[in-house]
Order: sequence, then C-alpha cells, then structure tokens
Amino acid sequence: MAKAKATSFFCKECGYESAKWNGQCPACKAWNSFVEAPTVKEEKGAGRVSLGTRSPGQLPVPKTLSEIETGEESRYSTGFSELDNVLGGGIVPASLILVGGDPGIGKSTLLLQVCRNLSADGRGVLYISGEESLRQIKLRAQRVGEFTENLGFLAETNLDTISEILKERWPQVAVIDSIQTVYREDVESAPGSVSQVRESTNVLLQLAKGLGITIFIVGHVTKEGAVAGPRMLEHMVDTVLYFEGDKSASYRVLRGVKNRFGSTNEIGVFEMCSEGLVQVPNPSEYMISGHESGSSGSVITCAVEGSRPMLLEVQALVCRTNFGMPRRTAAGTDYNRVNLLMAVLEKRVGLKLSECDAYVNIAGGLRLSEPSLDLGIALAISSSYRDIPVSDRTLVFGEVGLSGEVRAVRQAQQRVNEAVKMGFDTCILPRGNLRGLENRGDIRLVGVSNVAEAIRALAGDEK
Ligand code: TYD
Ligand code: MG
Repeated sequence: MAKAKATSFFCKECGYESAKWNGQCPACKAWNSFVEAPTVKEEKGAGRVSLGTRSPGQLPVPKTLSEIETGEESRYSTGFSELDNVLGGGIVPASLILVGGDPGIGKSTLLLQVCRNLSADGRGVLYISGEESLRQIKLRAQRVGEFTENLGFLAETNLDTISEILKERWPQVAVIDSIQTVYREDVESAPGSVSQVRESTNVLLQLAKGLGITIFIVGHVTKEGAVAGPRMLEHMVDTVLYFEGDKSASYRVLRGVKNRFGSTNEIGVFEMCSEGLVQVPNPSEYMISGHESGSSGSVITCAVEGSRPMLLEVQALVCRTNFGMPRRTAAGTDYNRVNLLMAVLEKRVGLKLSECDAYVNIAGGLRLSEPSLDLGIALAISSSYRDIPVSDRTLVFGEVGLSGEVRAVRQAQQRVNEAVKMGFDTCILPRGNLRGLENRGDIRLVGVSNVAEAIRALAGDEK
C-alpha cells in the first residue's frame, strides 16, 4: 500500500500548524478554522528567510547600531499623498506591503495607478497579475490614464517563474495581484490554500529583502472556503493596509493596520470615479456634504483617525415601537455602545426610549467606534426623540460615561481647529477639555459636564 502523504492541519486565520484537527485554534482562538493541507517538502534551509548577506560557512558577526548603515533617507512618494501618509511618509525600499480588502473594492485599480505614478517618476515597475489577462489590464489602464514605458505587465501565476523574472528584470517596485492566485510548484496544495499562501509569501519576502525590491501583495479578505484569508500574512509583511468602504458609495478608505516604518491607524480617503481613484484631500467636507439642515436627529461630530480629524454626520431615527420588543440598529458604529447610550439617556435624562425603536447611522458608511462619538450619538437620539433639529453650524464631541457624565477626549484642540476651519460657530465639548484649549477663531466653545447639560446647551442654541 502506498504510504499516505504527509499532511498537517493549519488554521485558516492565523496559519497555526498542528498535527491534529482542532475545533478552536489554540493560537488565535478562531472556531472551526482548521483545514488539512500537505506539509511542504523542503531541502534543508530552503524557504528560510535570510535578512542579511553572508558567505556560506561563515558565521554572521553581530553589529552595533553605529556600524549599521541605513543609507540616506530613501523613501519615495507613490504619487498619492493620501497613500504616502498611510505608509508613514512614502515607500520604504525593500519592504513588503500587503493590501487587503473585499473583492471589487478597488485594490487592483489603486495599485495600477500607483505603478503608473512610480513609472512616470522614472522607476522600474512590474505589475504581475494572476487574476486578469493582459487585455483586461490594458482596458483598465486605458480608463486610468497615460502610461510610460517603464512599466511592465505580466500575467503569471507560477511563483518560480515570477521570481526568475524579478531577479532578471530587477524592478524597484513589483505588484503581485493577488497572493491567492500564485503558487509554488513544490507545494502540493492548490493556489489560495493556507500552505501555498504562506510559502509564496515567504518567497516574496526573500525576494524583497534579498534584492531590495518593494513588493505590494494584494490579498482578498475571505472568511470561508478554501481560500486563505490574508490575516496570517500580517505577521510576515512589513506593512498591512486595508482598503475598505461601502461598495455602493463611491468613497474608499485606506487604513494602515500594521506598519513597521510609521504609525498605524492613519487613513487615506479616496473616491472611485470613472477614471480610477481620486484622492479626497478634505474628507470632512466630503463626509458632511449630504447633510440636510433643519431635520431632527442629525448631529455633526468629529472623529480623529490616526492624526487626522474628520467631521462626520451622526443620524438617528427614533419612533414609537409597534411591538413589545423595540428594534434597534446601529450602522457604522458599535451596536452595544448605542444601547448603552440609550440606557443612559433613559435613566439620566428621563427620555422614555424603552418604548421606542431607534436606528443610528454614521452617514457615508464609515465604520468607527471612537468614544468621542458618544455625545454626538446621544444628542442625535435625543434630537430625534424630541423632534427638535440641531443647528448645522454646531459641532459636538465627547465621551459619555455610565452616570451620564461627559468625559474629556484626546486631541480636542485638533477637533476644535477642524470645526473652525469648516466654519462652525458653536462647539459643544467636554468641560474637562476646555482648559488649555486655544480658541483660534470666533467659535463659541460650550463646555458641558453631563448629557442633560449638553441637551440644554443645544436648546439654548435655538433661541
Ligand atoms: P478593482 O480594482 O478591480 O477591485 P479589486 O482589485 O479590489 O477586486 O475594482 C473594481 C471596481 O472598481 C469595479 O466595480 C469597477 C470600479 N471602477 C471604477 O468605478 N472606475 C474605474 O476607473 C475603474 C478602473 C474601476
Ligand atoms: Mg483585483
């Protein structure tokens, strides 16, 4: 009888390897995430990443910091300042960057445009697609604009071929679209499986560090099926960016989730147009552009994502429930947080919300759960409940505690500055933030210490 093939079980979420099947992954605690895959047959040492250079047989000598050469500051721009920001100031040579996101969100389009910008700056770029034919790429490229000759395209999925070509052509930047379509011949499982994705990334990591090529890897986020999610790649790459947004809306947010060369949580905002992605340099204006003044239940608040303040519209609709069990929904923010704020409004302010349905929405489809949005959500609910509109020249922010107190939040100055810049005339904020705040415009700053006071401050507005 033929000997059974050597297989192992891998967690689809984090890549944890185990000899037997587990219901729950011991490493990342995901349930039902184990799949069986052949283990990789490897010659000794193959697939291991060497981050330095050394001749065989010679042991590396540890170096002190002063002995390590970094070269001059060599970051360069992607041609999109929004993307440069998220990367921490441009592309770091020889880095491995994972761009994740739902299918159809615009990853290929973004990277094609980045390739175009880089090649227009005279850099050698190779765009390798395993998902689209060269003809399809050309059709997309024609929508996006003019291309120079520095940019090569390749439709290829065999990683051994790709790696030969990268060694020979030696571009400065390469794009692999997507990691789920490439495969290594010596790994027996299908493209997109856990072991293929992991081993392929290993090869790309070696190429990036060994040859000094910056490689962008596209990864689709998929929860089930045989396709491995890019979650387990996060450990291996230098930078992880997620491209998100409401597919039905045209804006897209690029979020830095991990960055070895800069801060995380920075975001970049783009809009998908008929000629590809366009940067949105002033997201506040964009996010509140649909705001209708004079309707109740709508409040403008300010979130700080990374280092950037952004105005948002919180909408609430509160109406009497027809059933014994009130319905509540929260789109774009934490459902439990909304329930908690409603309980605070009921108990501390006396609104009879337990008899009401409530629907809360962050307009524009952004997903946020910053505590500073609390006061905006609470005031939107109270405004809808009492059917009294809030002035559209009033900005509200603050964290709400369980006893109804309004707590100070970080980066209050930035939020106030953004309100001044956008022409607001009143800002309702935590009293704890008032001290030390510099008022650079003629905005009226109203410090409040609890929710009831905030509601009274709004009522004073309307007089
Ligand atoms: P794509 O980049 O193919 O997504 P991904 O690589 O993340 O799967 O984006 C495809 C979507 O973008 C598709 O719905 C069409 C739309 N699109 C535009 O609206 N304008 C454009 O100029 C391009 C190229 C695509
Ligand atoms: Mg694509």
